[in-house]
Amino acid sequence: MARPILIAASILSADFAKLGEEVRAVDEAGVDWIHIDVMDGHFVPNITLGPQMVKAIRPHTAKLLDIHLMIAPVDPYLDAFAEAGADQMTAHYEAGPHIHRTLQRIKGLGKRAGVSLNPGTPTEALDYLIDLVDTIQVMSVNPGFGGQSFIDSQMLKIERIRTMIEKSGRAIDLEVDGGIGAGNIARAVDAGANVLVAGTATFQGGPSAYAANVARLREAR
Ligand code: DX5
Ligand code: ZN
Repeated sequence: MARPILIAASILSADFAKLGEEVRAVDEAGVDWIHIDVMDGHFVPNITLGPQMVKAIRPHTAKLLDIHLMIAPVDPYLDAFAEAGADQMTAHYEAGPHIHRTLQRIKGLGKRAGVSLNPGTPTEALDYLIDLVDTIQVMSVNPGFGGQSFIDSQMLKIERIRTMIEKSGRAIDLEVDGGIGAGNIARAVDAGANVLVAGTATFQGGPSAYAANVARLREAR
């Protein structure tokens, strides 16, 4: 397939005591995007980090900062994440009644906008959003934690969304997040994904393994 395949390193699996170093290390190891998982202990059952941490990470990489917002409400925090250095902000369809407004606001801030669908959310959720987004993210685990197993039914969802994207004629990235590794990356790409989020598969083994981990993911597709 002609479309470029991008690896997004989810720093959820990094050493949080050394985040700057970790981000530099995976940048040098050749990942394409840095994926930052923001969790609020309300929309998802875990708490991670906020705009201050994005601001602290920003000087450590020139790569795209992909902010995955697993928070509700989301709108009150968009300006802060934009100011902190986000390049792309992805909001969940399920996080509130006004996803359309949220995406408009992200675009209004001059950032790339993404919409994410939980495993149980049908593709029809995208029908009136597709003209607004730069990225569609398929959650292939229930959001909240790294290291979970890929939910197989999401392969069909990826296929369906790729068809929708092609029909739209827009250059929308299709990102898959959760349980991605060398064993399933080729199937996800064949189904139509072009951005692969990898947390465990990027960071396992520590810094000396990152370059080989990223190379393994690239070869697997
Ligand atoms: C889960 C997060 C993912 C997660 C992926 O809620 O959105 O980005 O960190 O981790 P792995 O690759 O370990 O499944
Ligand atoms: Zn994520």
